[in-house]
Amino acid sequence: MKILVTGGAGFIGSHVLEMLVRDKDNVITVMDNLASGNKENIPVNVTFIEEDIRSSNVLKVFQERNFDAVIHLAAQTMVPYSIENPSEDADINLQGLINILEAARLTGVKTIVFSSSAAVYGNSTSLPLNENEPLLPNSFYGITKMTTEHYLRVYHELYGLNTTVLRFANVYGERQGIGGEGGVVCIFSRKIAANKSIDVFGDGEQTRDFVYVKDIARVLYSALEHKGFGVFNVSTNTEVSVNELIKTFEKVSGAKIKINYVSERAGDIYRSVLNNKALKMEFPIGTLTSLEEGLRNTYNYFAHAGRK
Ligand SMILES: NC(=O)c1ccc[n+]([C@@H]2O[C@H](COP(=O)([O-])OP(=O)(O)OC[C@H]3O[C@@H](n4cnc5c(N)ncnc54)[C@H](O)[C@@H]3O)[C@@H](O)[C@H]2O)c1
Repeated sequence: MKILVTGGAGFIGSHVLEMLVRDKDNVITVMDNLASGNKENIPVNVTFIEEDIRSSNVLKVFQERNFDAVIHLAAQTMVPYSIENPSEDADINLQGLINILEAARLTGVKTIVFSSSAAVYGNSTSLPLNENEPLLPNSFYGITKMTTEHYLRVYHELYGLNTTVLRFANVYGERQGIGGEGGVVCIFSRKIAANKSIDVFGDGEQTRDFVYVKDIARVLYSALEHKGFGVFNVSTNTEVSVNELIKTFEKVSGAKIKINYVSERAGDIYRSVLNNKALKMEFPIGTLTSLEEGLRNTYNYFAHAGRK
């Protein structure tokens, strides 16, 4: 299969590429402007095109390379940045998307898989969050993700493209940067490895649904086979408090962690967990990685070779 991965030089992209290159029949291209990605994340047998998804060259790339499928990961990924820079956020996440969708339509791409986010649910408290929950994003980033979902649905309805929306919970794992969504595991890993204390906002009883990046990569890969339009949470359906997360960190690192409890951050969601029933029914992805195993891999990465 000829596959384009936009944003392939980023955190999640790097794990998707690792998986895609295992199948020698895949011909893989990455399009990335390296805004937050790293060229070193791209394996040698993958073609790298350094390009902005908003560029007028995008159509030419599609015409030349004749893709069957696109995994669309390229995005402005930071919620606070979206609040301060709504125009730029919309420009990258919506104009960039439309540029990719039009190029896909005009060149007969069959499938688009998209990385959406739990941010589309906003502060909804009907936990665990189901895919059919009313969407009320409370950030511009959440709005652009929600709007993208509608574009994908309508491109399916009008042009028959297979379009799959995957709403990721808090993704963590090796190579994660501190800037984007869900960076708490990455921040804690670095601090604990450096024997520094960690700051916890509020009482530490706030919860998140931490999903390991290699599981995300497996789902993205499986979704290339999905037909029609579909929306799926990609999550563990398990609520883990920050205090529990720290306990698991103590187990995998062997360290006694020094914690500073500081005041809550305005606007932070207190509890978050996403139902993954639909995901499990639709995709044959087997058992998800346990938090302990995922954290061990992540901590070891940041504590040793990957620490920069
Ligand atoms: N990490 C999470 O917890 C999480 C959760 C939900 C959704 N997502 C989504 O998953 C996707 C991947 O996120 P990530 O965590 O790997 O982030 P990342 O920042 O590591 O990767 C994003 C990649 O997109 C590239 N990019 C940004 N703007 C671009 C542009 N205009 N043109 C071309 N390339 C551009 C960056 O250089 C980077 O390589 C994003 O769409 C993000 O919104 C991530």
